[in-house]
Amino acid sequence: MTSSNDRRVLVLGGGFAAYRFVRELGKKGYTATLAAPRNHFLFTPLLPSTTVGTLEFRSILEPLRNQDNARFQLMAATGLDRERRIVSGVSPLDGRPLELPYDDLVIAVGAVPGTFGIPGVADHATFLKEMRDARVIRRRVLDCLELASSPGIDPEERKRLLTFVVVGGGPTGVEFAAELHDFMRADLAAVYPEEVRDSHIILLEALPKLLGAFDQSLSDYTAKRFHRVNIDVRTERRVVNVAADRLALHDGTEISFGLLVWATGNAATDFVKAIDLPKDGAGRILVGPDLKVKGEDSIYALGDCSFIESGPLPATAQVAEQQGRYLGRAFRRRAAGKSVEPFVYKKMGMLAYVGGNRAVADLPGIKGSGFVTFLFWRSVYLSKLVSGRNRILVFFDWLKSHVLGRDLSRF
Ligand code: NAI
Repeated sequence: MTSSNDRRVLVLGGGFAAYRFVRELGKKGYTATLAAPRNHFLFTPLLPSTTVGTLEFRSILEPLRNQDNARFQLMAATGLDRERRIVSGVSPLDGRPLELPYDDLVIAVGAVPGTFGIPGVADHATFLKEMRDARVIRRRVLDCLELASSPGIDPEERKRLLTFVVVGGGPTGVEFAAELHDFMRADLAAVYPEEVRDSHIILLEALPKLLGAFDQSLSDYTAKRFHRVNIDVRTERRVVNVAADRLALHDGTEISFGLLVWATGNAATDFVKAIDLPKDGAGRILVGPDLKVKGEDSIYALGDCSFIESGPLPATAQVAEQQGRYLGRAFRRRAAGKSVEPFVYKKMGMLAYVGGNRAVADLPGIKGSGFVTFLFWRSVYLSKLVSGRNRILVFFDWLKSHVLGRDLSRF
């Protein structure tokens, strides 16, 4: 039941922070609206698995419109009027202007892939952030193999088509390279034997090691494993320019590619850039330990678009999820007239899939790698999925791709 005394809470975003906030908010004392430019929540930690069909696209999506605690509005936010307490935006379907009022505003719009101003990236690279990116990659991998198998193809062109470049050796780049290699060896080798034999996966990383945030022993394990399976890891290589079919490194080397996946981390969204709130040097909104925006009374920011000055946290799903849960509970406590403690991050550790049914785990006090860690990785992600429907779909996708192989159709 809503009442006219309810405060109007407007939540911007549909990722881990916004989704968890709305789930925790409850209905007492608030009338909430969740506004996002897409109508689903995406479980991004498993996105690399969908690029090759280990998982199907829809298995890691959860509709946003059917949330109990908030009505949903499809809207891409573009501006904020703090005086009038209104967020303006447009419909992503037809560009129609929209305005949403609020008493409390929760900004959880996440981030976009960072290009760091490197020429050509936005036009010629494929990112790995949204489901549409995974679809593009899945199709492009198959296109490259198909084109490379054309009769009479020029050998140089064939070599280019069979070169798959991943830029960024963080968890996203590593997991994608691992999934692509699995796909090639386990499924595509049977139907494109010569093309797979001549294919080349290159992973470029600007820093001296892969998985920079992980323990050194796990970075070494990953690099060794990639070396063993012929994933060509090139560290201390910074991409400085990208063209339609080739890229340039800082040392002048050029690499031609059939597919370029860009996974070099995050940057601020256009909305966050556009609004007049205090931000750090990376364009993230500055918040206090209660996630309230500095100098504001009724505006909160959390997840990848925010930055706690007094205790910086990594831009991960785990942080966003915990902040969403904390703020939802804080709102509930406030409605019940109870006090609210500052946010405290509980570090649960990091996991990454490195291919061949192996994973690495950097947990508080424990470092793990190999097959048992892979089983642990799967069980953790299965438990972290946000709905029973997702869990069932993901479980059966894993079973299906293990027993029947991944689907090779191109459409
Ligand atoms: P990231 O920021 O972790 O890694 C990006 C990598 O790209 C860095 O190592 C950087 O040195 C490299 N790089 C940047 N510019 C480059 C250039 N021009 N040429 C070559 N290399 C370049 O980004 P990622 O992997 O997208 O992850 C984003 C966030 O999400 C991180 O905080 C990460 O820890 C988290 N994440 C965690 C996962 C996990 O724990 N399994 C899974 C996916 C993401």
